[in-house]
Amino acid sequence: MKALVIGAGGREHALAWKLAQGERVQAVFVAPGNAGTALEPRLKNVAITDLAELAQFALDEKIDLTVVGPEAALAAGAVDIFRERGLRIFGPTKAAAELESSKAFAKAFMKRHAIPTAAYQVFDDAGAAHRHVDAAALPIVVKADGLAAGKGVVVAATREEAHAAVEAMLGAGAPAGSRVVVEEFLDGEEASFIVVCDGRSVLALATSQDHKRLGDDDRGPNTGGMGAYSPAPVVTPNVHARVMHEIVLPTLAGMAAEGRPFSGFLYAGLMIDANGAPKTVEFNCRLGDPEAQPILMRLKSDLFELLLQAAAPHDGQRLDEVELQWDRRVALGVVMAAAGYPAAPRGGDAIIGLPAADADIDSRDETVKVFHAGTALRGGAVVSAGGRVLCVTALGDSTRLAQQRAYEVVRTISFAGAQWRSDIGQRAIRG
Ligand code: AMP
Ligand code: GLY
Repeated sequence: MKALVIGAGGREHALAWKLAQGERVQAVFVAPGNAGTALEPRLKNVAITDLAELAQFALDEKIDLTVVGPEAALAAGAVDIFRERGLRIFGPTKAAAELESSKAFAKAFMKRHAIPTAAYQVFDDAGAAHRHVDAAALPIVVKADGLAAGKGVVVAATREEAHAAVEAMLGAGAPAGSRVVVEEFLDGEEASFIVVCDGRSVLALATSQDHKRLGDDDRGPNTGGMGAYSPAPVVTPNVHARVMHEIVLPTLAGMAAEGRPFSGFLYAGLMIDANGAPKTVEFNCRLGDPEAQPILMRLKSDLFELLLQAAAPHDGQRLDEVELQWDRRVALGVVMAAAGYPAAPRGGDAIIGLPAADADIDSRDETVKVFHAGTALRGGAVVSAGGRVLCVTALGDSTRLAQQRAYEVVRTISFAGAQWRSDIGQRAIRG
């Protein structure tokens, strides 16, 4: 069997690496991939990004299953384009992916289906948004509508910051048709809750927690994610049950009822309050990055078979009858980002000290894996080529041991201006 992964980040490196471990899998292509996927023994990069061309490639190569990594390809209709050609692909259609690509759609959807989320208002007029900010309680959250790679959100502690965010997103310099969502600040602890859906049934993956801010102690600007660990202790069995019943199942039922049945990874970004009540901060219609790296590092079951079944729901058992096997250890990933990330990442810096990529793909006993994200090969050397460059992911018997192991390897890798947080997992260790 052959698989194709669309994307070029750390999440896609982890997806392709795990798919390649499938019993029946002979080849995994990654389009366009990065230096890490180029160097893996059983992965092959394909230099195609145009979706129609990629569908033709999948037909020519007789690809059995395509898995889409990033939201942009989903919002561009990758799943619709592949399905029209009779290809099997795992991911939501363009219409279902609006749950992520339009925050205004997602918020209205949650309201229609009584799914817990922050109170909000949508504005397309800067004056009205400014007046709203003047009267609102602080802190207040200002979000650009549309995809912004996790960077279009400002949690404003002061009215000045909120006004500045509104001005940047809706003011004179903003593109025509811009909209912002202004919403109530939710207090609590965040967790990432990701499920596999086939349009009719659902299976939860292991929980995880991301670290969105650039700096230690959650300071500095929001990023795409600076590190993650799995499982997230804040998701107790009781919270897990509430999330399934109050958020995940009503979302799938609502999407089906509205004629947009959801298949693919559904990622609910949660805020869990002191009483264990979950609210939805956002939906993503894909795996998280970097959450995918620790989650997939712990997955022992055959990912290819799972996603193949989920992409063709009428052939197999329901997803809620599947039992996944997880490594009982904690997995923790530390992102090493480029100089200047997130505002203006610099590329082209040589990366020194990377462990060899081979040796480990056939071994499930490995305890550290360096997943690549923004990397490229230049004359046989690996150089940085994006904001988030690597995610060093380790397994350990406790969060502290996984953390120690990951940072040991981080310290052996270097490139000019590398930035990383030194406190990934600290919240789980403090308890
Ligand atoms: P989003 O892109 O909507 O996930 O927002 C990015 C990050 O901003 C989230 O992970 C939270 O840390 C923070 N955030 C977003 N919305 C809220 C909210 N209503 N209350 C508190 N924090 C929020
Ligand atoms: N790590 C957050 C995300 O993938 O959206």
